[in-house]
Amino acid sequence: MRILVVGNGAREDALSWRLAQSASCDALFATPGNAGTALRGTNWDIPATDGKRIVERALEEKIDLVVLGPEVAIAASVGDRLRDAGIAVFGPNRSGGRLESSKVFSKRFMERHGVPTAKAAVVHSLATAMKALDEWRGGGVVVKADGLAAGKGVVVCKSVDEARGVLTEWYSGNKIPGGGADVLLEEMLVGREVSVFALADGRAMVPMAAACDYKRAGDGDTGPNTGGMGSYSPPQGFPADMYDQVRERILAPVLRGLLAEAEAYIGVLYCGLMWTENGPYVIEFNVRFGDPETQVLMPRINGDFAGLLKSCADGAMDLSLATTSAQACVGVVLATSAYPRSSTPLSGLNPDLSLPPGAQAFWGGSSLVDGTVKSGGGRVLTVTALGDDLANARANAYDAVKTLAGRIGTNDLTYRTDIAKF
Ligand code: AMP
Ligand code: GLY
Repeated sequence: MRILVVGNGAREDALSWRLAQSASCDALFATPGNAGTALRGTNWDIPATDGKRIVERALEEKIDLVVLGPEVAIAASVGDRLRDAGIAVFGPNRSGGRLESSKVFSKRFMERHGVPTAKAAVVHSLATAMKALDEWRGGGVVVKADGLAAGKGVVVCKSVDEARGVLTEWYSGNKIPGGGADVLLEEMLVGREVSVFALADGRAMVPMAAACDYKRAGDGDTGPNTGGMGSYSPPQGFPADMYDQVRERILAPVLRGLLAEAEAYIGVLYCGLMWTENGPYVIEFNVRFGDPETQVLMPRINGDFAGLLKSCADGAMDLSLATTSAQACVGVVLATSAYPRSSTPLSGLNPDLSLPPGAQAFWGGSSLVDGTVKSGGGRVLTVTALGDDLANARANAYDAVKTLAGRIGTNDLTYRTDIAKF
């Protein structure tokens, strides 16, 4: 198979790495790709959202399977266009993508189909927001902008007053992240967060693996939110029947709902869950793999992952093609020291990521220039390592971080030291 991965982050680098090693992969392409995908395959210079040009080039290059990485490509109808052209796609159409691209759509969908989620009110203006807050019962309020906001559209407010402040700033300053007018006010859930990834082929939905990520910049979950500073898999401290509960309480009603609404959902459904004392509640759905979760999931997958994704794209998921190993994996993100305040591009980085067996590093947004790597700024690398258990994987991952930090060619990188530390 000739496979195209759409996107340019460490998630796409990890997907490309696993796909390229699959028995059924003959050639690998990425668009726009990054320094890692350039070393593993061929990058195209087409933005992830340019469906027209992606289709043209995919037809020319006789691509058999396209794997959609980022939500912006899905929201830009790249999946729809490819399917219309007869190309197999792992990733939903734009309509299925609304589970992520509109938090209001997603919440209404969950309410319609009995998926456990936080109670919420939708407001459209400062006046309706203030009225809803006057009537708010309970403690914290989670304020969420409706549209895609690159992880910046959610503010967890401990009090109603704090929520008033955020909404006043958003509405009076015309500063609603994502640029829409609708905002969701949501009850604050208490529990532990976990990301569960389910595969879907338009007819069935099956949990594949789960991971936990670290969103705050600093150790001990301090500092500002980021795109993710680390992750580990499998999750620790969740019930042994976690997947059964997720299947029964979340995936079954989601699938019934999708079928009832004639949505043939193909791809991965990322269930961002809060595990409360009453079991799992959905905080959000994403319609793509997670970053940095994918970087710790891919090393755990054995077998023909490309074949598995193609079987989903063809509407006949074949789970026997690939399995998830019992090993644990820990991933540590190396970011520039100014991240997330600003993104400083770094150039002249060493492309040699060779590490001991079981360790693997993935480039974030970057390009290869004259044999060296220019990083786009922010999150530069995710360094991962497998181990027999999480403690072992964690020790291996931090060993790998030290090895790479010493030879990557810059001192401007920082990382959290407490990933998977319990
Ligand atoms: P989201 O973009 O919806 O994933 O929200 C970002 C983060 O806000 C989540 O990872 C949670 O840590 C937090 N969050 C979102 N919704 C809730 C909620 N209802 N209760 C508590 N925390 C939440
Ligand atoms: N790990 C968070 C995300 O991918 O949205």
